[in-house]
Amino acid sequence: MTTGYRPLVFAHRGGADALPEHTLGAYLRALDEGADGLECDVRLSRDGHLVCVHDSRLDRTSDGRGRVSSKTLAELDALNFGSWHPGYPADAELPELARLLTLERLLEAVLSSGRPVRLLIETKHPSRYGAEVERRLIRMLRHYGLADPKPDDDVQVTVMSFAALALRRVRAQAPGLPTVYLMELLPPGAGRGRLPFGARTAGPGIELIRTRPTLLPSIKAAGHQVYVWTVNDEADLSLVLEHRVDGVITDRPRFVLDQLNRM
Ligand code: G3P
Ligand code: CA
Repeated sequence: MTTGYRPLVFAHRGGADALPEHTLGAYLRALDEGADGLECDVRLSRDGHLVCVHDSRLDRTSDGRGRVSSKTLAELDALNFGSWHPGYPADAELPELARLLTLERLLEAVLSSGRPVRLLIETKHPSRYGAEVERRLIRMLRHYGLADPKPDDDVQVTVMSFAALALRRVRAQAPGLPTVYLMELLPPGAGRGRLPFGARTAGPGIELIRTRPTLLPSIKAAGHQVYVWTVNDEADLSLVLEHRVDGVITDRPRFVLDQLNRM
């Protein structure tokens, strides 16, 4: 690798390959392994708490059923979010790998980790929850002193969304908070390097990098950073390193860090 260049490594959902996604144990392991940052999805419980769960339904990642948004925090807290995963130890009760993760619990853990952490928080889902997710998120970040980051702050939060509408809400409430505009397909304007509502960083999926080779050069020429998801194998890692992306979001942080250390 060219001297001096090394992308940031973010553990996607905490590093969803080895351990159950969005559990505190997964996030703490990723930090121990040396990840620069963590990626997490947030949505709302029925009683308005920000919980870290990717899917709109509980069925895939817990022993519960139904929509996350139809349950209270107390109901979600009674579920097991780890036992579905092959990495969950069969012979032990490990609350850190089983308990629902709330954004509050994650922020507390990150702030007390004693090391620099970049936290990427993706808000889901702008049409289901209206403006409420972003409103509650900004309020919580403000409570922890994270809504207007300074360069020397240990914990740096960035908000991400596929929805320009969500980025607009974040910008209106916390103009100092950096944002990432996530892209799965090529959105209007992005091919020419334009990102909506002051987003500093583009977050294309790896498939977009494979199929649209001109996308990254135009985004970079417009002065934006690029964080790519989800980079899990050698071929994809080589591709994004060739493009000198600024951040790699991966389910396999240890694998990516090992590869980078070998270069
Ligand atoms: O980091 C962005 C990526 O997480 C977006 O996709 O579906 O895993 O939230 P998804
Ligand atoms: Ca996500």
